[in-house]
Amino acid sequence: MRLHKKPIDQNPSKLLTTYAQEIAFNTTGQIVDIGCGYGRNAFHLSSFGVPVLCIDMNRDALNFIESSKKENGNLLTVAEFDLFNNPWPFGDETLGAIVNIHCFIPKILDNFISSLKVGGYLFIETIDGRGKNYLELPPVGFIKEKLTKSFDIKLFKEKKVGPEQSDASSVKLFASKKKL
Ligand SMILES: C[S@@+](CC[C@H](N)C(=O)[O-])C[C@H]1O[C@@H](n2cnc3c(N)ncnc32)[C@H](O)[C@@H]1O
Repeated sequence: MRLHKKPIDQNPSKLLTTYAQEIAFNTTGQIVDIGCGYGRNAFHLSSFGVPVLCIDMNRDALNFIESSKKENGNLLTVAEFDLFNNPWPFGDETLGAIVNIHCFIPKILDNFISSLKVGGYLFIETIDGRGKNYLELPPVGFIKEKLTKSFDIKLFKEKKVGPEQSDASSVKLFASKKKL
C-alpha cells in the first residue's frame, strides 16, 4: 500500500456521514480510525463529541492531524503504527468501533472481529476498483464470509472489480458485533 499525500478534498466519506452519529452516540468504547490518513473521517466522528484514536504509519498525516486539532477540537489522539508489519495492538473485546476507509489489510480483519466489544461497530470502505486497485482488494465474498456469523450486517455493498479473470471486489460495509 502506498503512502499518500494530503488529499485536496478533506470531506469525510459520504457513506460514513450516514452512520457517524449512530457510531458516536451509541458506542460503548474507544473508536479507532484504522489507516486514518489526514483525519477527514476521524474529525467528522469527533464533531459529535467523542474521542477517536487515529492510527496510521504516515507521520506527515499524523502531524497534520495534530496541528489541526486546535481548530477542530481536541478529541483526536494519534498513533504512528504499521498495521501490516506489526502485531495487532489491541486486546479482545476492547474497542467500541473500528472505522477503516480506503486502507483494507485483509490479514487484520480477524483482529477487527476479536477486538470489538459486543455491540461494537465496524465500518469498512475499501478502495474502489479503478485501474490496478484490484491487485490490493480482497476476493469476492471474503469480508462477508468472515463476518456473517458474529455480526449484524446493516449495510453490505460488494462489487466485483478488475479484469474478468480477477476475483477482486470493492466493499462498503456497516455492521455491529452480535452477542453469541
Ligand atoms: C488512501 S489513504 C486513506 C486515508 C483515510 N482513511 C481516508 O479515508 O482519508 C490510506 C492510508 O492508509 C495508511 N496505511 C497504508 N498501509 C498502512 C499500514 N500498513 N499501517 C498503517 N497505515 C497504513 C496510509 O499511510 C494512508 O494514510
